[in-house]
Amino acid sequence: MGTDGNNKSFTLVEVIDGGPLKITGHLILKDPKKDITASPAEVYLCRCGHSCNKPYCDKSHNC
Ligand code: FES
Repeated sequence: MGTDGNNKSFTLVEVIDGGPLKITGHLILKDPKKDITASPAEVYLCRCGHSCNKPYCDKSHNC
């Protein structure tokens, strides 16, 4: 059930200040370059461009 009381489900994208995008909810992540197809409940995606494990954040943004 969605947060507004109906049966819609939501995917939430949160911008973490100075860090990645935190995505929670129903999602499918596809990356044909890495042969990734995953449906995680929560994922942190790099938006700084420094991760060595793109599309995921590897906390390189802290350096
Ligand atoms: S946002 Fe964390 S490594 Fe890019």
